[in-house]
Amino acid sequence: MMMKIINIVGARPQFIKYFPVSRAIASANKNVSNGIKDVLVHTGQHYDYAMSKVFFDEFGIGEPDYHLNVGSGTHGIQTGQIVQRVEEVLQKESSDAVIVYGDTNSTLGGALAATKMHIPVAHVEAGLRSFNRYMPEEINRILTDHVSSLLLCPSRTAVNNLGKEGFNNILNDGELISRDGMKMNIDVNNPVVINVGDVMFDVVLHAVEIADRKSNIIEKLGLKGKDYCLLTLHRAENTDCKKAFENIVDFLNDTIGNRECIFPMHPRAKRIYYDIDRKLRSNVSIIEPLGYFDLLKALKNSSIVFTDSGGLQKEAYWMKVPCVTLRIETEWIETVKSGWNVLYKNYTGSHVLSGRESCYGDGKTAERIIDIFTTW
Ligand code: UD1
Repeated sequence: MMMKIINIVGARPQFIKYFPVSRAIASANKNVSNGIKDVLVHTGQHYDYAMSKVFFDEFGIGEPDYHLNVGSGTHGIQTGQIVQRVEEVLQKESSDAVIVYGDTNSTLGGALAATKMHIPVAHVEAGLRSFNRYMPEEINRILTDHVSSLLLCPSRTAVNNLGKEGFNNILNDGELISRDGMKMNIDVNNPVVINVGDVMFDVVLHAVEIADRKSNIIEKLGLKGKDYCLLTLHRAENTDCKKAFENIVDFLNDTIGNRECIFPMHPRAKRIYYDIDRKLRSNVSIIEPLGYFDLLKALKNSSIVFTDSGGLQKEAYWMKVPCVTLRIETEWIETVKSGWNVLYKNYTGSHVLSGRESCYGDGKTAERIIDIFTTW
């Protein structure tokens, strides 16, 4: 019988993370008669073209099998509706496993609905911790990890975090798992922690050459040959509090100086920006959110990136662009240890670079994940 996996996505970074997994499923299916049926559920947490559909178009992901149209709302409303509507899908589709990604309300809602129906949950990007429970993402991560059966970690640090929370079934001593010899039973009562690497690294390796070829963002924004900065800002802890947002604006105005800067503005930041007293300097150009290939190309050609996005911190690291993280802590501590990423409170105007280790896998994370299912 064909195995059926339900992939649950809903927010911008999840469309990107799902892409290599869907590609790995399609490729595994080529060699066998009874492969994996890949069912895609879009919760509808993100719904603007620039926050959602553009990624489906760019990566050639087909229409989701289910679109749940949850939309925006308070955490209770949004998460509650996701649980309810995912449950309805799971009642219709008898699936062998559910895959959830990252740390959004769609991650938690999907994981909760599945686990209550005794369907094993695989959590891609398990084990990340900021140790800051004021972040909604931290709550989502902790709860999702503790109801998952397969905890698919992007790094050794993530494995260690789970070890400290009592998970003791850790494969390969927490080192990156090899692609053979992974046969295991997936048992909801015995969660397994596996270092598979980071799916985002798979995506960057795939997309960087396409971005170079396809994107004309540099010409479009008139950035050719310019020493420019890239800025993104969307975390609730920065954008839901005027004082926090103003502090960051002050920091950016001091630090960016007269350099050209482009700021693809997330809807959450837009909501507060026009309401605060401080304004960014006129050399900061506020533009609409970018698609993935445009963003990657804009990043690759920039001299420095200022961001509170987790994905961008790592993409900057992989593309050798110095990063200043606009948060008080980060989960991606390897990028900070290497000197390529600095928390903004510690930034003194330059980066002190040290060794750059490859700490997030080898670009074959999605294949590893699908190996686990095909040998199950
Ligand atoms: C969510 C995730 C965050 C992730 C981010 C990526 C949670 C708790 N947070 O935050 O971890 O980094 O996605 O972007 O799940 N809005 C639009 N158009 C859209 C979507 C949202 O205008 O397509 C506006 C709405 O006003 C909404 C606000 O943006 O209230 C925030 O949307 P929300 O669903 O809360 O998610 P993000 O802030 O994007």
